[in-house]
Amino acid sequence: MAGKAQRNKPQRAPKVHRAVVTRTVDDFEAAFWPDERPVDNAVVMTMGALHEGHAALIRAARKQVGQEGRVAVTVFVNPLQFGPAEDLERYPRSLDEDVKLAEENGADVVFAPSVDEVYPNGRPQVRLSAGPMGERFEGATRPGHFDGVLTVVAKLLHITDPDFAFFGEKDAQQLAIIQRMVADLDFDVEVVGVPTAREEDGLARSSRNRYLSADEREQALALSKALFAGRDAAAQGPKAVREAASAVLDAAEGINLDYLALVDPHDFSEAADDFQGAAVLAVAATVGSTRLIDNVHVICR
Ligand code: PAF
Repeated sequence: MAGKAQRNKPQRAPKVHRAVVTRTVDDFEAAFWPDERPVDNAVVMTMGALHEGHAALIRAARKQVGQEGRVAVTVFVNPLQFGPAEDLERYPRSLDEDVKLAEENGADVVFAPSVDEVYPNGRPQVRLSAGPMGERFEGATRPGHFDGVLTVVAKLLHITDPDFAFFGEKDAQQLAIIQRMVADLDFDVEVVGVPTAREEDGLARSSRNRYLSADEREQALALSKALFAGRDAAAQGPKAVREAASAVLDAAEGINLDYLALVDPHDFSEAADDFQGAAVLAVAATVGSTRLIDNVHVICR
């Protein structure tokens, strides 16, 4: 039983980690670099609508820099990476919930700038080009998408100046292109890929899943099932991987397939039939009106 002194002591609320929310570059810098102390720091770049997949990125960032280090989460729906017919306006925006999730998972600062703050001179005339790697697969369906991604990632790397930048492996082509940009253009940052977070039934977590009806969500499971079937066939080589994954998709209903591809993760070129080693089996499809992507690592023998 608690003694009198203890009973009368005002109860302290449990310590809650709070993230500072900043809207301008100046405020971000003041919050992220409060003093000259050199500590490890990391950034997780997002377009908001945060879910468990982002939470895993933020936790990985916190783990990397330790309790002394700093973790920033950027929340910015980048117009540059949306095509004219894409879902820029429809893209979910939920900053209050995003801040809560970010701080619960260890973020110190959330940077949620306006479009004018990021592009004060209007749409940038000079942009980064993802080159041939950005023209295949996602890039073929979404021309200019990766140029828009690289341009904003480069800007956010300059603004946040992190030691580490964390990106999800779910966007495998994006991750490969960002890694390539950092290597090819000598960015002083370590890019870390974090494995895809999945629902219990295998569906890859995505901000876009919220658009799926119950039936569409069921149909969407064919994507991860196809990838797992392909991965299970890897011992028989690339051809068997493609055939096993295609068989699942061919039998599926409600899937409008964009591509299924086995690629070399270094440059996202199609893996030849005699390819051996680590590859990525990637799929993109529209289910209802929602475009989904997913991928798995495959070791081909
Ligand atoms: O993966 C995303 O959410 C975006 O493409 C990114 C990296 C935050 C750039 O806008």
